[in-house]
Amino acid sequence: MELTTTLSAQTVRNAVREAGINANYWYAVGWAKELLPGAVMSITVWKQAIALYRDGQGQVQALEDACPHRGVALHKGQVKGCHLVCPYHGWEFNPEGQCVNIPYLSDQQKLPTAKARSYPVQEKYGILWVFPGNPNLATQIPIIEIPEYGRPDLLMIPITGHFKAHFSICNENALDVFHGFLHQGLQGWFDPELAQLKETPGGLHAIYNVSYKGRMAKFLGLSDRADTVTTVPISIDYRYPNYATALEGVSSLYLMRLPVDAQESRSFALFFFKVNLPQGLLNLLRPVLLRVLPRFVLYRFLAQDVEMMESEQQNYTANPHRIYAEINPAIIALQRVTLKQYESYLTSQETAPQTTKGQNQR
Ligand code: FES
Ligand SMILES: [Fe+2]
Repeated sequence: MELTTTLSAQTVRNAVREAGINANYWYAVGWAKELLPGAVMSITVWKQAIALYRDGQGQVQALEDACPHRGVALHKGQVKGCHLVCPYHGWEFNPEGQCVNIPYLSDQQKLPTAKARSYPVQEKYGILWVFPGNPNLATQIPIIEIPEYGRPDLLMIPITGHFKAHFSICNENALDVFHGFLHQGLQGWFDPELAQLKETPGGLHAIYNVSYKGRMAKFLGLSDRADTVTTVPISIDYRYPNYATALEGVSSLYLMRLPVDAQESRSFALFFFKVNLPQGLLNLLRPVLLRVLPRFVLYRFLAQDVEMMESEQQNYTANPHRIYAEINPAIIALQRVTLKQYESYLTSQETAPQTTKGQNQR
């Protein structure tokens, strides 16, 4: 459905700041290379604490981060083969979360029925993904496609974000191209214009026109000359719960959002740059560019954004009833999608069979 692109005042829906997630999607939870064999990592997907571990065969497993014996966090435990051992009394759990050994159990005693919830988990694009919803749906829902991944002619830069803000505030920042104002000191874009806005089955598609100027823009291939203005379209595809953004022929950004709780979110992003260098030279310079670009460009942009998002959250928390005004129809549409996804998840919970319902209600 085509939506209006006219800027006109509307009220920000405060309900969106209280919205939960649709858990029936794959969520990026960490970088694969940070989970070494035999290591355990603690992550949280929308209030669900999960212990991720890489077993002896290199497979990643995900269990609820609470031992079914006394509730101790399982991520404090140790990996033993394919199992995770709780640090308190040594109960041992298999990848399905079933207790398979208690070290002090006598031969005559039977193992109790004790199970930690297990979660579907995947490793793809160098990212760890968890499916926190109804596990029966995990195989039907695809992980976002990243066709640029592994292309040797592109420079891929992973960027990690951590925000003390609700995921709706962070997602709105990513769709809100009008905040180029904030980044003007870093030679960000200017003169933004919303050219197209469409609702898609799982999200939104927006096209903005933006202008660039300056030495950095030239280096990034955004303009031919540093002293002239170049106008280019940016397309932003919100595919719940992630983003695919492209600056035609120059760069693309895949932004994976991890909602942690009502006031905390994380992100795992992959930036791809088309650098105008011969392949051999690019290969040579790749390690330097991978160090320099994040530090001197990308994380500097992100730091400015983080400050704004956290400030927005602080004022919302201090006064959740205050009415705010918005004039970008893309933001209003995004809020609709966010609430719709949450509502559809709640409805799916009501109609879920009893066996999976209890698991997904938390
Ligand atoms: S609390 Fe985990 S083994 Fe006792
Ligand atoms: Fe920004």
